Amino acid sequence: MPTSPICLALDVPSLAAAKELAAACAPHVGMLKIGIELFVAEGPRVVTELKTLGLPIFLDLKLFDIPTTVQRAAKSVAGLGVSMVTVHASGGREMMEAAIEGAGPDVTVVAVTVLTSMTDGDMHRVGIDRPVIQQVRKLADLAKGSGAKGLVCATAELQQISGLFGHAMVYVTPGIRGDEPVSDDDQKRTMKVDEAIKAGTDWLVIGRPIRDAKNPAASAAAMNAVALAAIAKYRTPK
Ligand code: C5P
Repeated sequence: MPTSPICLALDVPSLAAAKELAAACAPHVGMLKIGIELFVAEGPRVVTELKTLGLPIFLDLKLFDIPTTVQRAAKSVAGLGVSMVTVHASGGREMMEAAIEGAGPDVTVVAVTVLTSMTDGDMHRVGIDRPVIQQVRKLADLAKGSGAKGLVCATAELQQISGLFGHAMVYVTPGIRGDEPVSDDDQKRTMKVDEAIKAGTDWLVIGRPIRDAKNPAASAAAMNAVALAAIAKYRTPK
């Protein structure tokens, strides 16, 4: 059982900055997320270096390509020794199955449904003729049927989704916000830490509210305290 349900998004441009942020916050978070900004800038060594902090690593590459390419990429991901990797559920069943096969038994393949930066109003602009919640449900079904072990969605959809799959899936929710607003925020489907825990999330992905705080470690500690209190309040032990 991790000490914290917070997954810290290391959205910084260099390994040095990532190490500094991760080391400062490590006592208050349960997982470290490496996204495309950091991975493209520093390459696989960023995984090796950050693993020395002893926390599981989530490689958020959001793979989306033909099945063969995704399978081979997922195999390379597994070779890095990470715990979790993302694929886009909209890549379809064959692509997700290929990702799972490539990732092997030690890497949890988590399917991204609808990005938390999108709203109902954005859906038709990308050719989807239904509201976010229906699209999330459709993609969640597809991901579950394809063998994905986890889902990424906004907390707003979680109640319905977790009602469908229960504890059979790992739920990962970005767009988590504290009391301070994030400047120029592009996340649209946001929610507070305690609301996300109440809705049933397993991992709260948090980036800017911690990264951009005056004192990131203090911000991580405060958000973790809220999360742990909410777990005690809303969750019955499994
Ligand atoms: O800074 P913020 O807390 O918004 O960071 C959210 C993180 O979660 C970013 O690293 C972003 O890439 C990631 N993410 C997301 N929405 C998804 C999947 C991942 O915001 N659907």
